[in-house]
Amino acid sequence: MLVTIEGIDGSGKSTLHKALGPYLADLDPVITCEPGSTWIGEAVRRAIREHSDPIAEALLFVADHAAHLREVIKPALGEDRLVISDRYIDSRLVYQQVTLDGFIPDPLSWLRAVHHGWTILPDLTILLAVPVSVALERTGKRKKGEHFEQEPVLIKVHENYMQLVEEDKTRFLILDGTLPPEHILKVAGETIRFRYDELKKKKKK
Ligand code: TMP
Repeated sequence: MLVTIEGIDGSGKSTLHKALGPYLADLDPVITCEPGSTWIGEAVRRAIREHSDPIAEALLFVADHAAHLREVIKPALGEDRLVISDRYIDSRLVYQQVTLDGFIPDPLSWLRAVHHGWTILPDLTILLAVPVSVALERTGKRKKGEHFEQEPVLIKVHENYMQLVEEDKTRFLILDGTLPPEHILKVAGETIRFRYDELKKKKKK
């Protein structure tokens, strides 16, 4: 089963992702992330740092996704493992929709087309939702200052996530990212456990 964790920078997504491994240790999950699970992830990180061409940057994110699928996700799903990825396709749909605005006529359609026919959609996506003001307060403390972390970008990214949820209400579980981390962990962890058990039962039938 493929579970993805999504949210704007500062939503608490990475904290949740880190805690899920130990919380679900009995299920022996494969804990992975985008960008960065393959060597292409290093190129992506460099592109982000150097704030290079938005089309080149988008294609690097897609290249990282292709390698991630082939090297990590598909082999794990082939063994019926539980895979939990910090960011996945939705991150491209929401972030690159913003960064490609003005460079490509219809970024969302272009992004969907570039993934079409080879990607795998998640079984469950946990979206941590927080007000942009809270996210900025948190990222300000980290002082990373990537171009994705600017307020106007995050406001649009948040709206784009909500639009994706509108289009596919069954795949998303939205959690309030301002709740205490241990509370978020329990709801997310138990939902994953329940869905994974259900899937295994269905496969046995
Ligand atoms: P991270 O902070 O979750 O590691 O992600 C790094 C940044 O990359 C974050 O600001 C979101 C951005 N990003 C995209 O713009 N597109 C993508 O496809 C992915 C995976 C991340």
